[in-house]
Amino acid sequence: MKHHDVIIIGAGAAGLMCAATAGYRGRDVLVLDNAKQAGKKILISGGGRCNFTNQKVEPQQFICGNPHFVKSALARYPSSDFIELVERHGIEYHERDHGQLFCNDSAKDIVTMLMTECEWAGAKVTLRTEILSVNKTDSGFHLSTSSGDLSCESLVIATGGLSMPKLGATPYGYKLAEQFGLKVLTTSAGLVPFTWHADQKIRFEPLSGIAVPTTITAQDGTQFSEALLFTHRGLSGPAVLQISNYWHPGEAISINLLPGENALDKIEFALKHHPKQSLRNTLSQWLPKRLVEALFEESQLDKALNQLGHGEREKLANDLNDWSITMNGTEGYRTAEVTLGGVDTNELSSKTMQANKVSGLYFIGEVMDVSGWLGGFNFQWAWSSGVAAGLAV
Ligand code: FDA
Repeated sequence: MKHHDVIIIGAGAAGLMCAATAGYRGRDVLVLDNAKQAGKKILISGGGRCNFTNQKVEPQQFICGNPHFVKSALARYPSSDFIELVERHGIEYHERDHGQLFCNDSAKDIVTMLMTECEWAGAKVTLRTEILSVNKTDSGFHLSTSSGDLSCESLVIATGGLSMPKLGATPYGYKLAEQFGLKVLTTSAGLVPFTWHADQKIRFEPLSGIAVPTTITAQDGTQFSEALLFTHRGLSGPAVLQISNYWHPGEAISINLLPGENALDKIEFALKHHPKQSLRNTLSQWLPKRLVEALFEESQLDKALNQLGHGEREKLANDLNDWSITMNGTEGYRTAEVTLGGVDTNELSSKTMQANKVSGLYFIGEVMDVSGWLGGFNFQWAWSSGVAAGLAV
């Protein structure tokens, strides 16, 4: 039976980062993955350019049962450290809105960088390996795998969440946590588009492809100002993906279609200067005409502004600044970028990611109950939690 100091299950973002960190400390590290390729999610991320981190990372940009949990790891390995690593490997990158950093060329550069780091650190990566069983021993863990029996002192679980099963996402990490008596918080799809109810679909499906700037608000008051996209299936775009992390089934969301503007003031101004202009023509100056026509009744749109009563104008303004809509649901894990919930962080050390109850067992990355906003935060959590464990194993 081959023995290693550290075995990491999962050759994704967090697992590879952890492997390199531990390898540089002189630990004998083996990474196992059942996939044919390492870092598959990295490869398709950010539209193939990988939004690998964000210039400004704050703890409040993460959703976690214990909001303080992420602080230590993020402070120890901030985004500036990952940017430095990217620069050291000569990877060219650029900044987009809200401090998001993307590769200029390809997400492949990030996977190559991580694999190179593992190689330099002496960490071995073995793919196409099924983990058949894991058992605790006096000195660590015994693993039975499709590549043979293995033992290790420290075992790191970096198997990610449930999003995108077609990329090989499995509930393995949750099952293993439960096997060792750790609590796993209910999971759900995050950073995910919403779907229409049947009646909404008839009304809004023709708008598919239209994007508008919005401010979108969840019932708990969380708010994002980003683009909203109408799709055949429902609503998407960055605003919707962001708010989906804060949405619960059955809850309405509020969409401000004129962000930063007072719709009633705009309508009153238009009334004063163009009293005979139709409501349709007025609103079509502010929003795509097809959206205006889907939102309001034909008979109302045909009226001139001076034919609208004050109450009617107030209602219109409210619909523009605070369009309340209850969506049917989400597209689920099939298209979700992350998984909310997971291994309860109360079971783990925020400094090392080690399970409090099981010495030598660590959880890193998305498998745990930490999910970030859209914008590079989920990868930053993979890097930071991976380094935290890599320094401890
Ligand atoms: P990750 O999922 O990366 O790795 C888990 C690894 O474990 C995989 O290699 C898998 O094969 C392996 N595994 C699973 N089960 C196993 C088992 N039973 N046995 C052995 N191995 C097993 N984030 C971001 O910050 N910026 C972005 O641009 C994007 N873009 C993006 C696009 C899309 C389409 C998705 C789905 C997700 C993103 N994300 C993102 C989120 C980001 O990809 C995600 O948060 C990280 O990859 C999580 O890293 P982990 O290492 O925890 O899991």
